[in-house]
Amino acid sequence: MHSLRGAAQMDGQRHVHHDSDALADSVAGRLIALWQAAPRTRPWHIALAGGNTPRAIYARLRHRQAELDWSAVEVWFGDERDVAPDHPDSNYRMAREALLAHVPIPDAHVHPMRSPHLDLRRDCARYARLLDTRLPRRDGWPRFDVILLGLGSDGHTASLFPNTCILHQREQTVAPVHVAQLGTWRMSLTLPVLEQAEHLLFVVSGAAKAAVLKRAWARPEDAALPVNRIRPHGTVEWHVDGAAAGAVAAPEQRP
Ligand code: 6PG
Repeated sequence: MHSLRGAAQMDGQRHVHHDSDALADSVAGRLIALWQAAPRTRPWHIALAGGNTPRAIYARLRHRQAELDWSAVEVWFGDERDVAPDHPDSNYRMAREALLAHVPIPDAHVHPMRSPHLDLRRDCARYARLLDTRLPRRDGWPRFDVILLGLGSDGHTASLFPNTCILHQREQTVAPVHVAQLGTWRMSLTLPVLEQAEHLLFVVSGAAKAAVLKRAWARPEDAALPVNRIRPHGTVEWHVDGAAAGAVAAPEQRP
């Protein structure tokens, strides 16, 4: 692994890992270290990412589960698809199969975003109320200890997709979002919540992300990439594998 200097807005540590396995090992270790360093005066609140990249991280946490006190952890989600919690496309189902069903975390400490009735607006309102009642706050916003985030090849993170209304949502903590690019609805934490987190950990893997990662790191002012719209109050860590960092490491191509 080697580290690179962070960009201006999303200043943070950038860790390039040899491959996706090394990335998963390292991020699992970081999450355990962040939990171990946290005060024990209240539960430790983490929002998990969906998609494919985090699956291996969750599997590592399952195998290292004895290093955490799961009764002192509350697990949330950064975003969710418009499917029931038991649907194959559900981010909650992925995390449950890879981790949550295999560790002694109290059911009351696991907060799936969707309920079986699949009313998106009701689920957003319910989740916002839960965040308001269970999380510590900073500047009037619920504050996560950690939010784990992926990065799409279009620069989306969570379900903050390019050219969507949710990018301008600065009143609500959770909102529905119609993603025309996918022809589907989602729900997501909003930018103010991401910005208040104590620690943002981005996990990016694969050559398909090389171009967007280079663009996001090289042009942090490029707001066309939703990830660049985050103005973090806490720390930011990027954990990427060599394939995703390929274009970053490559010298500028002369015209
Ligand atoms: C989702 C995620 C999404 C994901 C990125 C990267 O619901 O799919 O929240 O934001 O993190 O699309 O996904 P991969 O890790 O599969 O590349």
